[in-house]
Amino acid sequence: MTNLPSLSQLEESVHDALNQRLKKEIIQSGGSISFSLLMDTVLYDKEHGYYTGNKEQFGDSGDFITAPMISNIFTRCFLNAFKENFLHLPSSILELGAGNGQFAVDLMIAAGKNNIVIDQYLIYEISNNLVKRQQKILKENLSKEIFSKVVWVSKIPERFEGIIFANEFLDAFPTNIYEIKNKQIYERKVGIKNNQLGWKIDSNPSPELESFIDIEDLSSGYIFEYSKKLDDWLKDFFKIIKKAIVFFVDYGFCQSELFHQDRMEGTLMCHYKHYAHTNPFACLGAQDITCHINFSHISRLAKCAGCTVGGFVSQANFLINTGALDFLGEHDPNNILDFKIQTNAFQKLTSPAEMGDLVKVIGITKNTELSLFGFNKNDRKFQL
Ligand SMILES: C[S@@+](CC[C@H](N)C(=O)[O-])C[C@H]1O[C@@H](n2cnc3c(N)ncnc32)[C@H](O)[C@@H]1O
Repeated sequence: MTNLPSLSQLEESVHDALNQRLKKEIIQSGGSISFSLLMDTVLYDKEHGYYTGNKEQFGDSGDFITAPMISNIFTRCFLNAFKENFLHLPSSILELGAGNGQFAVDLMIAAGKNNIVIDQYLIYEISNNLVKRQQKILKENLSKEIFSKVVWVSKIPERFEGIIFANEFLDAFPTNIYEIKNKQIYERKVGIKNNQLGWKIDSNPSPELESFIDIEDLSSGYIFEYSKKLDDWLKDFFKIIKKAIVFFVDYGFCQSELFHQDRMEGTLMCHYKHYAHTNPFACLGAQDITCHINFSHISRLAKCAGCTVGGFVSQANFLINTGALDFLGEHDPNNILDFKIQTNAFQKLTSPAEMGDLVKVIGITKNTELSLFGFNKNDRKFQL
């Protein structure tokens, strides 16, 4: 078990408050709650949640870093892909879960420099605290006219037409956790043991998952995640949007790679001050909790709702397909310090050992045939 840095006094008090609340909930629920409820509480509780509370999640002073913060090459590549699609779609963008607002800032700046007109930029964000930070960074970095095009929405706009973009949004949904025992699936819930929160296997199996998860080749003790909450959200989302191309970018795999015998412990990960570990009962409200996405399942849900999966590539391939090497080439190798920073960032975004292969991009279209620039080489859609 990783030795984590100590919690600050404030974090300690948040942890204690959430710990007490969850224990009470477990007792009132007869001895256990779903992991999804724990994750929902510690990440999104109005007062103490990791995302909704008043804390820095991103960057050096936070707990983890995401691709838009590593280099604007990431965002400029996506703008190249969006540009192709504005030929057939209204030039509206809807970003889901905008974090510290870095992607939105860099996108609007790059669009301005390249004379790409964006009529509106909508942000759908659950955290009021992050909305305030997004407003601040966008206001500080954009002209008044461009800033006025950015609008925060609390619901997915009915009949939306345009581009939808989400980076590390799907993996932030509360998930349920399951374990295979004697060729049956059981939910891994959360209970109390020796006055501490801990895992508690449900006594009844969950046969409803067997219709889309083939457990034949998986041994006893195999753990995996499946988010009922994300399923419900995506079903509504695919129904509500009218004519759009959706880019979901996330850590994840197709189903055959995800449900691999080597991944016995599941993919749940926690991040606290750049320490990655697997104990979701530590640092309650102070750490991020995430798990990898099953892109085959996302594809299934999209198709059931009448959408089409246009492409599925690794982040490295998407960025290279959309001009990342040209953007890197703009930097002068004789300017050693700048070139080193840029090549390190490029390496982080594209190396298979870092984000390059672990993060995937899926392109989903609804009611339109669109350019899927970005997926033209090394498309792995056939794996889904
Ligand atoms: C891991 S962060 C990623 C942030 C940003 N996209 C980036 O790449 O830096 C997840 C983001 O999604 C938001 N979020 C999570 N669940 C959400 C939901 N159900 N509705 C809206 N926003 C949500 C979080 O508040 C946060 O802004």
